[in-house]
Amino acid sequence: MMGKGPNIPADMVFLDLEDAVAPKEKEASRARIVSAIRGNDWGDKVLCVRVNDWSTKWTAYDIMEVVGGAGERLDEIMLPKVENAAQIVATDLLLRQVEIASGLPVGHIGIEAQIETARGLINVEEICAASPRVETIIFGPADFAASMEMPVLTGGVQIPEYPGDHFHYVFNKILMAGRANGLQVIDGPFLHVRDNDGLRDYAMRARTLGFDGKWALHPDQVTVLNDVFSPTQEQFDKAWQILDAYKAATENDGMGAVMFGNEMIDEASRKMALKFISRGERAGRTRSAQA
Ligand code: GLV
Ligand code: MG
Repeated sequence: MMGKGPNIPADMVFLDLEDAVAPKEKEASRARIVSAIRGNDWGDKVLCVRVNDWSTKWTAYDIMEVVGGAGERLDEIMLPKVENAAQIVATDLLLRQVEIASGLPVGHIGIEAQIETARGLINVEEICAASPRVETIIFGPADFAASMEMPVLTGGVQIPEYPGDHFHYVFNKILMAGRANGLQVIDGPFLHVRDNDGLRDYAMRARTLGFDGKWALHPDQVTVLNDVFSPTQEQFDKAWQILDAYKAATENDGMGAVMFGNEMIDEASRKMALKFISRGERAGRTRSAQA
């Protein structure tokens, strides 16, 4: 993945020191990651490294070697299995020292926090608020299923025997904590990497609740996820029409609510429309000529 990383059309890429790396390779992988960061053109992708969690012997050394060696191009550290605010504060303090020692601006490195244990979910609100460095909160379904002792062997996929979505509460709890703190909220991996229809269906659940995106483990998954998490042209055009109709009603006619086709629209409709427009613009959409 390190070789393909620079070229895939994802918004963000992370290089892993955690569960994709065998324990005996952990230390040697740090230098490989630093040279991959320095030796490739990552374009305008957000570039992140996932370090090992604070229950291991590696976290501080991962951060010192990788952040200390990578230079300004590294944007973020991903911290897995975050259980409480203290672990974020410890990361923040260590990052500050490493930034000073390596000549980076203080605050340069952001934190992406993964919620993947029962304790982490209980404490997700304090985790999201623990440092201004926290930019993103991520759900880790595989580790979370293990932490909860769910009788599943594949993480992050639908369980047909369960009447509903077994992660519905988890999704909403993480989403609310993230939104209340102005963070980006991301769903984790879908491990059936050849089942793109299943991925589309499952990703749509997170998108419908309000998540900003989802991990891809394979370039084919990126295509599906970019589609699911971007407004359609129809939604984008409709959002613009709502804005126009609302503007005309409030500014010209002095009305707070107005009919738009068969719907009543008001200030809340304007806010919803703005979200579609900013997401659509980030995905490169422009308004259709006839809309
Ligand atoms: C991701 O890290 C997961 O555990 O699902
Ligand atoms: Mg995990």
